[in-house]
Amino acid sequence: MAEAERARALAYAPYSRFRVGAALLARDGRTFRGCNVENASYGLTICAERAALCNAVAGGAREFVAIAVAGPRGRSAPPCGACRQALAEFAPDLVIHFRERGGRVARRTLRALLPAAFAPGGRRR
Ligand code: THU
Repeated sequence: MAEAERARALAYAPYSRFRVGAALLARDGRTFRGCNVENASYGLTICAERAALCNAVAGGAREFVAIAVAGPRGRSAPPCGACRQALAEFAPDLVIHFRERGGRVARRTLRALLPAAFAPGGRRR
């Protein structure tokens, strides 16, 4: 969560003002950060979790054990559906830590948050 907070400090969210940071832990021990990056054309916005995932894959990591997500203080910030699907591509057994309303950190599996994920042929290498 501390790494996610560091990533959150770099979020670019002038439209929603909802700054999010994510830290994705790879199996090799490296941590990759991401933050949300919004756009004047709102639909082009990328979430913190997918930014972290792209950063990690571009860094050569493809196996992940956990992700932490930090949103604004006191607000709930679980990964959105699109990010869950994107994470499932590489890490169906991922553990997800995210802040709940009130500040407590919740710990859930991706399998619990994305039951019946779309996975027609398994991961391609
Ligand atoms: N956002 C994330 O970064 N991650 C999520 O899982 C949900 C939403 C961002 C997108 C947008 O910049 C802002 O939060 C408000 O939706």
